[in-house]
Amino acid sequence: MSSRSWENPSEAPYDSEQGSASVTAPERSYRTLAEVDPAGKCVLVRVDFNVPLSSGAISDDTRLRASLPTLEHLLQRDASLVLMSHLGRPKGMTPELRLAPVARRLAELLDREVRYVETPGPGSLEQAAFVAKAPAGSVTLLENTRFDARESCNDPELARILAGYGNLFVNDAFATVHRAHASTEGIAHLLPAAAGHLLVAELESLGRLLNNPERPFKVVLGGAKVSDKIAVIENLLPLVDELFIGGAMAFTLLRTQGGKVGKSLVEEDKIDLARHLIERAREQSVTIHLPADSICAAKAVPGVATEVHPSNGIPIGLMGLDAGPEAVATFRAGLADAKTVFWNGPLGVFEVPPFDRATRALAEAVASLDGFTVVGGGDSVAAVNATGFAHRIGHISTGGGASLELLEGKVLPGIAALAP
Ligand code: 3PG
Repeated sequence: MSSRSWENPSEAPYDSEQGSASVTAPERSYRTLAEVDPAGKCVLVRVDFNVPLSSGAISDDTRLRASLPTLEHLLQRDASLVLMSHLGRPKGMTPELRLAPVARRLAELLDREVRYVETPGPGSLEQAAFVAKAPAGSVTLLENTRFDARESCNDPELARILAGYGNLFVNDAFATVHRAHASTEGIAHLLPAAAGHLLVAELESLGRLLNNPERPFKVVLGGAKVSDKIAVIENLLPLVDELFIGGAMAFTLLRTQGGKVGKSLVEEDKIDLARHLIERAREQSVTIHLPADSICAAKAVPGVATEVHPSNGIPIGLMGLDAGPEAVATFRAGLADAKTVFWNGPLGVFEVPPFDRATRALAEAVASLDGFTVVGGGDSVAAVNATGFAHRIGHISTGGGASLELLEGKVLPGIAALAP
């Protein structure tokens, strides 16, 4: 059985109000580090150190490493740095989300002292006093910005307090530019501002997907919910040649075709939306591939007995938890001639082995491609890192939600605020 696809039977021109008008990369409207002089200044840098923790230790320091080019650039030019980041989604001060482990790891990576003290949070008198004592050329890490409820509601007073800590603002937190928070958006209006190296690299690489991508352009999307990806699919349809959809979201699409998907996760209230998406793809001559077969089990627990079934013929009582071998082979073959590939989202329940296998196999397949490849999203990036071939990926995005919103064609507040 081949992968199910919807070839375009229609020659209807694309003529929708939500059509291709937004399918361009945003114009560059921010200064880069090359356009500001940080010498002798105290630079407030918004970084995204929202790293995964396991028993209080950092289990993946990718985001810390990704910030190093900007931090080293500024330090080499005799700036003092005050770093701001959130960690998790705390409601008020939460001891396990303090940035102490981040400060320790960053000190190792920079091979220099990182000043950090536990304080109630941004804007506290303790913190202001600690920043005021920062020696020239030092690196100070502020406590988790989200310990202060004013951060997430972009409170102007908190932005003013933070801006008072320095005289230049650099935003390098790509993964957080879709949030209009005091340390990402509010502060950018109060100081001379520039984009850091990571932010620029992300925007340029993701912009390559939107600005005349080399064809064939193929997109792989996975994850649980079609509703999370609908906007990005709609915005990319005018640009892509083929879409490969895996993960539980595929079952919602299969249901629109009358597929029997057992007790697989289906967004019943999104079936009409999925049908609309398939119709739009037809209009755009975009082929949609769904997994031909699935690894099925009664539930997603390690060691459970598994069976392989056609994805549209899953027995009652079983659920599809990973793409099957035929689906993986078909996706791999389908991607082989791509000149541009974007992949976001796992093909199965990645966090519960053995349902991580298809995602890992896809990571190897994407890493072996010759075209320009971009991977975003926590599980997809983890799978690529696990292959050991991450260096073969054209761009690994540090932002999951931010990269999707950018590709949806949205204006991202953290970037818009950098306009000089
Ligand atoms: C992320 O991990 O995607 C960013 O750090 C943003 O985190 P948030 O979704 O909690 O705002």
